[in-house]
Amino acid sequence: MVKNKTTIKTIGVLTSGGDCAGLNAVIRAVTHRAIQGYGWRVLGIHDGTQGLMDSPPRCEELTLKLFTGNILRMGGTILGTTNKGDPFDFPMPDGSRINRSKEFAQGFKELELDGLIGIGGDGSLDILNRLTKLGGINFIGVPKTIDNDVPLTEFAVGFSTAVSTAVEALDRLQPTAASHERVMILEVMGRDAGHIALNAGIGGGADVILIPEIPYRLEPIAEKIKTLHEQGRDHALIICSEAARPADGEASMNEHSHGQKRYGGIGDQLGEQINAATGAETRVTVLGHVQRGGIPNSHDRIIASAFGVRAVDLLASGENGRMVAWQHRQVVDLPLDEVTSRTREVDITDTLVQTARGLGISLGD
Ligand code: F6P
Repeated sequence: MVKNKTTIKTIGVLTSGGDCAGLNAVIRAVTHRAIQGYGWRVLGIHDGTQGLMDSPPRCEELTLKLFTGNILRMGGTILGTTNKGDPFDFPMPDGSRINRSKEFAQGFKELELDGLIGIGGDGSLDILNRLTKLGGINFIGVPKTIDNDVPLTEFAVGFSTAVSTAVEALDRLQPTAASHERVMILEVMGRDAGHIALNAGIGGGADVILIPEIPYRLEPIAEKIKTLHEQGRDHALIICSEAARPADGEASMNEHSHGQKRYGGIGDQLGEQINAATGAETRVTVLGHVQRGGIPNSHDRIIASAFGVRAVDLLASGENGRMVAWQHRQVVDLPLDEVTSRTREVDITDTLVQTARGLGISLGD
């Protein structure tokens, strides 16, 4: 067992925000390191922040035995999660909103926890950072999100698997596009960041990549399709981020129940416009939550494991308010305040943007 500078006996771990592949690999790494490295008890909090706000708090003890099976390989999160119900602005059934942040700290106290590890995206990490500061809770964050938009880390858990899934979709679309001489459009997730589309577009051999950071015009896209045609290729692959937007307009959103708006519809819109501009037959695939579920790939399992171990080591050495991150093939850690005060969209001078241009891929500008 490793010496630690603290008097920690029990820690909590929770997953917060949208799920993604690799969350269970982080939970497993945290449990292995905490029990085998330090002899701590580990409680898995159910359903993110909600599990600590409920009375009594909802959790389960995580043991080494639990992880002898296939949990490392499983998608989703064995603890459950939520991307609704910000404790600072909690929606009540009557439509009002209340601040329930004190209940979170109360739950932590009730479980007699000495530290907390939270696995979340940029939004969840910001909320957890504020909640734990307010409650005087020792906290370490682990970045996860298919969008890969958590600042100061090259990779968040889940991104690599989402990219692999989108590449596989392009691999499947190419032969059917070629057989029917069609333009296939693949709409991918990513919220306001184009990392999934950019990476998968390069890996999957797309002819056009549209990302929110580079507003597109129809003319260069139509031109690219015509050029391909002149070169003897009668099919094309287009990948677009859900939040890609035209230079002279807004991103496309769908309205859902309770007036909730979410990105969606850009693929169909483009399909119609490209058909009208080029005469090409178009078909649209919206990949959706397929990018979030499923078996984590090896890269996600590896960084999830490295993040989980480092998060526990940080608590053991008395650190607090930090996030683990991946930089230059190393796990590092940074102040959470520095992370939550920034955003991480695609930098249009980025290597991969240059790579795409160098390959002759149209970015619609
Ligand atoms: O942030 C992850 C993400 O999958 C985004 O890419 C997407 O826009 C959103 O969550 C979808 O959220 P929900 O699961 O609530 O539909």
